[in-house]
Amino acid sequence: MPSPAEMRFRFTIPDECKEFALQIYLRPLEDSDLDYLYRWENDPAVWQYGDCGAEVSHSTDMSPVRFSKEELRQFIENQQQGFHANEQLRLVICRHEGADESVSTTRGGRVGFIDLFDFDPVGLTAGVGILICDPANRRRGYGREALALALDHARRELGLKEINCTIAPDNPASKALFTAAGFRAKKTLDFRQE
Ligand SMILES: CC(C)(COP(=O)(O)OP(=O)(O)OC[C@H]1O[C@@H](n2cnc3c(N)ncnc32)[C@H](O)[C@@H]1OP(=O)(O)O)[C@@H](O)C(=O)NCCC(=O)NCCS
Repeated sequence: MPSPAEMRFRFTIPDECKEFALQIYLRPLEDSDLDYLYRWENDPAVWQYGDCGAEVSHSTDMSPVRFSKEELRQFIENQQQGFHANEQLRLVICRHEGADESVSTTRGGRVGFIDLFDFDPVGLTAGVGILICDPANRRRGYGREALALALDHARRELGLKEINCTIAPDNPASKALFTAAGFRAKKTLDFRQE
């Protein structure tokens, strides 16, 4: 459940999603993404963007860890069941070869992740979450392109009709990204006492 003052936004996906020149593409998680996934799932700087409910422990070098490699290996394997069975899909945002060389990527051009989750088979809705991992790679249009591609995939391949997202009030980048993509506020949740 969203915490107090978080905003829920929603977007009804049109039959035709507009196309535009792409710097990036989306692909499913692969075994070779394990180290990249481990790196960013366990980076405390990105935990503020989504509470996945996982407890924080410590690795042998005492750095904080939310997911072990074994858990993430299982997560990657579960992706093979597909979105409808798994009720969740994580896609890797990868930069096309030859795009801006100043962008920091790992081998394979990974720059982030986009997730569809909380699948509702009755309403044909799901939630969306996105992360451009390295802050130096933000404001290059990758988030906008990844969101457009994910919405197109959600409509055409997964049969979804509506996508929701939850945005913290202190995240203007996310609010601007989703608003520009056509998302509109659903309702404001504010349980604070007067
Ligand atoms: C939110 C996030 C995914 C945006 O990705 P991005 O690749 O930097 O965004 P883009 O460059 O595609 O920007 C698209 C639009 O979003 C808005 N936007 C993006 N970053 C912004 C910022 N820091 N401030 C204000 N608006 C911003 C702008 O309207 C921008 O369009 P413009 O560049 O033409 O003005 C990225 O900042 C991020 O990963 N943040 C941390 C994780 C997060 O907050 N995820 C969202 C929770 S679901």
